[in-house]
Amino acid sequence: MSKILVGVSGSAACFKAVAVCSTLAQEGHEVTAVLTEAATGLVTPLQFACVTGNPALDHEWEPLDPAGMDHIAFARSADLFLVVPATADRMGLIAQGLAPDLLGSLALAFEVTKPRLIVPAMNPEMWANPAVQRNAQTLKQDGWIFVGPVSGPTACGEEGFGRMVESADVLIAVQRAL
Ligand SMILES: Cc1cc2nc3c(=O)[nH]c(=O)nc-3n(C[C@H](O)[C@H](O)[C@H](O)COP(=O)(O)O)c2cc1C
Repeated sequence: MSKILVGVSGSAACFKAVAVCSTLAQEGHEVTAVLTEAATGLVTPLQFACVTGNPALDHEWEPLDPAGMDHIAFARSADLFLVVPATADRMGLIAQGLAPDLLGSLALAFEVTKPRLIVPAMNPEMWANPAVQRNAQTLKQDGWIFVGPVSGPTACGEEGFGRMVESADVLIAVQRAL
């Protein structure tokens, strides 16, 4: 079984990441969730700890790593990096190589030879925005595997491309990538 690092950014679809982590853990994977500050407004680190059996990380300044370097320690030990859901903001940060928080640093420190999956979730206008499309293109060129988005109703009450895929589709993509 594999060690999977799950980055959770602040989308209305965050609840689906709890289900993804729960199933991965039930399948025997060792799962560690890393929440952005925005994500903690929608879901809690405790929810992820409950379903994974591991502490969830939500900041850099009380590290679990004895040397204080969670951003290196967790990047080195994981086999696969999954960002679910990925906001427009998070896609932009990763595409530009910015690291204002733990998830950003992990995205930079994670070896590019290992599988990195990203699962966008946003309003259709946001997804269609040229800046977001440019960032998606950059991420694909950098080797990120995209899972979705798909067309359908979004949490904001609109309809179109931007809806996050279902949890089951994320799990299939992870199995394929491992
Ligand atoms: C209730 C709520 C739901 C949101 N859902 C989304 C979303 O689905 N997709 C998105 O790109 N941004 C969404 N946002 C905006 C992001 O949370 C915001 O851009 C934030 O800065 C993202 O930070 P992060 O990428 O560090 O998590 C939402 C904001 C709120 C308040």
